[in-house]
Order: sequence, then C-alpha cells, then structure tokens
Amino acid sequence: MKILLATEKPFSPAAVRKMRELAEAEGHQFVTLESYTSIEELLHAVADASALIVRSDPVTAQVLDAAPELKLVVRAGAGYDNIDIKACTARNVIAMNTPGQNSNAVAELAFLMMLYMARSGFAGKWGTELRGKSIGLHGFGNVSRFMNQIAKGFGMKVYAYDPYVEENEMKQSGVIPCKTPEELYSNCQYVSLHIPLNNKTRKSIGYELLKLMPPEAVLVNTARKEIIDEDGLLKIFDERSDIKYLSDIEPDCKAIFEQKYSGRFLFTAKKMGAQTEEANTNAGIAAVKQIIDYFKTGNDKFRVN
Ligand code: 3PG
Repeated sequence: MKILLATEKPFSPAAVRKMRELAEAEGHQFVTLESYTSIEELLHAVADASALIVRSDPVTAQVLDAAPELKLVVRAGAGYDNIDIKACTARNVIAMNTPGQNSNAVAELAFLMMLYMARSGFAGKWGTELRGKSIGLHGFGNVSRFMNQIAKGFGMKVYAYDPYVEENEMKQSGVIPCKTPEELYSNCQYVSLHIPLNNKTRKSIGYELLKLMPPEAVLVNTARKEIIDEDGLLKIFDERSDIKYLSDIEPDCKAIFEQKYSGRFLFTAKKMGAQTEEANTNAGIAAVKQIIDYFKTGNDKFRVN
C-alpha cells in the first residue's frame, strides 16, 4: 500500500525517518510531500495513495476526489477540523486522529508564552512571576493534564471547566472544578484554551467571558484562532489596558493588535505548539502504526467519522 505523508509544515527529519522505517518494514511504500506550496502538488501526490497522513493540511472534497485509492486519512495530531469529515464519510474514507501524542509539546509552548509575557518580553523592564497566580484550563483533555502538572510546578492555583469531564476526576488531579465558564474566567488571571474547533465552539470566547477576568488578565490560546470572537476580543482590549492575548497562530485581526496594543500580545507566525522532535515522532509513529494496524486487522480505534 502507498502511504503518503503530506505536510505543508514538515515534521522533523528524525520523525520522518522513523515513520519510513516502520512503514517499509511492514512492506508499505512510504512517500513524502513536504513543504508543498500549491494544492496541485497535493492533488498530484494523492492520486495513487491508499493512506494519507497530514498535519493541519486541509483535506477537502477536492483532495479526496483526486485520491480514488484512498481508504484512510490520519491527522497526525489532535484537532481534525482541517479534515472534511462528511466528505470522507461520503466517499467511504476512514478519518482518524492521534490524540494525546503532541500534548506535552503544546503545554510547554503555552508556558513559554506565559513566561515570556510575564517577563515583559525580555525588554529589560520589570515583570511578574507565575507563582501564586491562578490559571483556568478551559477544557480538561490531554493538553490540560500536562498544563496542570507544569502549573503545579510553578506553584499556580489550577481551575478547570469541562462539561465532559467528571468533577471527581478533576479533583483527583488537584484541580478546582468550575461549574460554568463564567466561574472559570472570574477566578483566573490566566485562562488557557484547550477546546476543539467545532460548530459549538466557533467564536465562543469573546467579550462576555473576557470581561469577567481579574486584573492583569492573560488569555492563552494554543487551540484554534477560530474559537475566538475577535470583535469581542478587540472590544475588551479597547476597554481594558491590563488584558493580554497570547496565541499560537496569528489572529485575523493581527494588524489591529500591531497598531494599537503593542506589548500586550504575542503571536507565533506558524502554529508551533506541536513542533518538537518528540511530538513529531510521537504523532507520526502513532499515525503509521494506526495505518499498519488498520490494513492488517481492520482496527479503527481512533476513527472520528
Ligand atoms: C493539533 O491539533 O494536534 C495541533 O494543533 C498541532 O497541529 P500541527 O500538526 O499543524 O502543528
């Protein structure tokens, strides 16, 4: 079977080498399309692929139509909002993700951004410390569990809101459970977002929640830019000069931030949360293993459609 790894933002060479070794050892052909710049390159490469591994690369109906042999798409990562799930289902293509594999890398990046901002961007000015501050985890999945551990190491007080996780589970992890998002945002100087992008969460974080945050509030977004209501974000930034926004991807309103809110934001140009050798290896190997296993035994444990 031909397995195509198509990544506009490439994995580390070590991760790709390990993926290739694993696939070839099982008799599969392993082909890479890295750092591609046009959709045509992807359409051409998928033409005879039986399995496709992607990162945030859009897998649209057009891509699927160009891949008549395709049985399986694996998103090497957690969020699969880049995959047209309905189009996959309509074409009998199985879609999977590899949850949890890059969670630690994302949590470390969130803290990197928080510390950088807390120390005023290393500009020689005084800053603040994380110890003793409160952090709210919006969503208590894989990334949040690492966030909790790291936050505890920094001596932070950790709150979480997640309607899909039992309160007891949070308590056992030493986290204070909140019953509503409002409770979370009111209690926490830092709020870190760990929710997927879907129709319920799109533009769900905006003015009404952010206005509840205590003084010197910091919103940390290593999830998706689309979960933010950017009009609401700009409104609270206009009203309150103490609030800051750290995002692992540039928002659409980046130019306004640059013009009006200097020193109050930090944006990565490309999504960097999962960009470590360890995360690439974990997610890449998991993706290849899932494909091998599916073709061998039909195991579709991480199926999302
Ligand atoms: C994920 O959903 O797993 C992360 O956002 C990583 O995305 P990336 O593979 O595009 O870096």
